[in-house]
Order: sequence, then C-alpha cells, then structure tokens
Amino acid sequence: MPTSNTPIHWFELPRAPAAGTVLSSVNDLPDQQATMLALDTGGGVAQPFHLLLLREGAQVRAFVNRCPHFGVPLAAKQTQLISKPGTSITCNVHYARFRWSDGVCESGECVGEGLIPVPLVIAADGQLSIAAAEIPHE
Ligand code: FES
Repeated sequence: MPTSNTPIHWFELPRAPAAGTVLSSVNDLPDQQATMLALDTGGGVAQPFHLLLLREGAQVRAFVNRCPHFGVPLAAKQTQLISKPGTSITCNVHYARFRWSDGVCESGECVGEGLIPVPLVIAADGQLSIAAAEIPHE
C-alpha cells in the first residue's frame, strides 16, 4: 500500500504552530502516557493541529499526530490511542506501530517512515513549548 507524502519537518505542515507556542506543563501530562493535543492554530476547532506528547518522568517527546500511512491522526480520541509506554505507539486505523523513542515505524504499512518530531523546550517550571525550528542547510 502506498504511503502518503510525508513532509520532513513539522513546520512545513498546514497551520503549523509557531516556535514558542506553549503546549502544556510537564506536570499536567499523565506520566508514562501518550497524550493527544489539538491546537487551534487558525483552523478553529474543525481543523486543529494535532500533536502527541509522550511523557516518561521529566522527559517529554512530541510528534505530529499524523500517521505517515494515510496522513491522519493515529486515533480519533484519547481513549482510542494505543500505546505501550516507553516502547511504542500504534495507529488505530491500520495498526502501524511506531517506536516511542523516535517515532520510527517498525511494523505495519509504513515501515521505514515515521512520525514527525516536534522539538520542545522545557522551562525550569515545567512549561512545555515548541522550540525554534532548525532549518537544515542544503
Ligand atoms: S493510517 Fe494506516 S496505519 Fe495509520
């Protein structure tokens, strides 16, 4: 099955949030869980920008909640999100499985592709925000 054209960088996606956008506080995220976040970045509630925040203790990883197989969120609701904390997160549509550590698809329809990482800044008080994009030099 062909996969969607996966943009390489989160900031290339439509309605991508700006660097510096505050997302949450580490302590507001359940530990050992992947949390879905829908940000209104100009598309209103009908077209939010979807993120996944994966917390393990003080460490949080962020990925765009967009399966590279069909370009849709991994789940429609938080309660439908399938994850094995610290190990993997699985798309609820066709069950592609992504590594927790780096979002790379290790089984399913999009092996070799991956979730798009979003760089974070964690402030001393635990506030999470999007870091400035590192634009690669060609
Ligand atoms: S949409 Fe097919 S595995 Fe995610």
